[in-house]
Amino acid sequence: MSNLTFGIIKPDAVRKGVQGAIIQRILDDGFKIRGLKLIHQTRKHAEGFYEVHKERPFFGDLTEFMSSGPCVVMVLEKENAVPAWRTLMGATNPEEADEGTLRREFASSIGENAVHGSDSEENAAIEIAYFFSKLELV
Ligand code: CMP
Repeated sequence: MSNLTFGIIKPDAVRKGVQGAIIQRILDDGFKIRGLKLIHQTRKHAEGFYEVHKERPFFGDLTEFMSSGPCVVMVLEKENAVPAWRTLMGATNPEEADEGTLRREFASSIGENAVHGSDSEENAAIEIAYFFSKLELV
């Protein structure tokens, strides 16, 4: 699994209509897309995904936002995919994100920050399995 990571184009980015631009940036950066679909999560599904953050003060806002509209979930392939995707996304807080990163360009705030990416190979495998069946991965 080491060349795979998991990504989400979050509801704010889909609402703005920039999902196509983000996907193009991903392809231009040399990733292969191994899985892709548009979904609208229930609150419960989003709470399950972000369970590690359940004691954090922002958990309620985060899961409400992530279930507020459609998002695009993706499985991305590249050498060292986890750090490569995190570099392309930029820092969680768009004000701290480097020029040229997706969050610098498309995120509005730390909560509505356009994209998500796995933080480790182990979590990438867990997150991919949370959203995709084997048949949906090419
Ligand atoms: P993400 O990479 O999806 O993982 C957890 C998310 O919590 C993070 O992106 C942020 O969008 C969101 N979040 C909201 N508020 C905060 C905060 N104060 N600190 C860190 N993450 C936050």
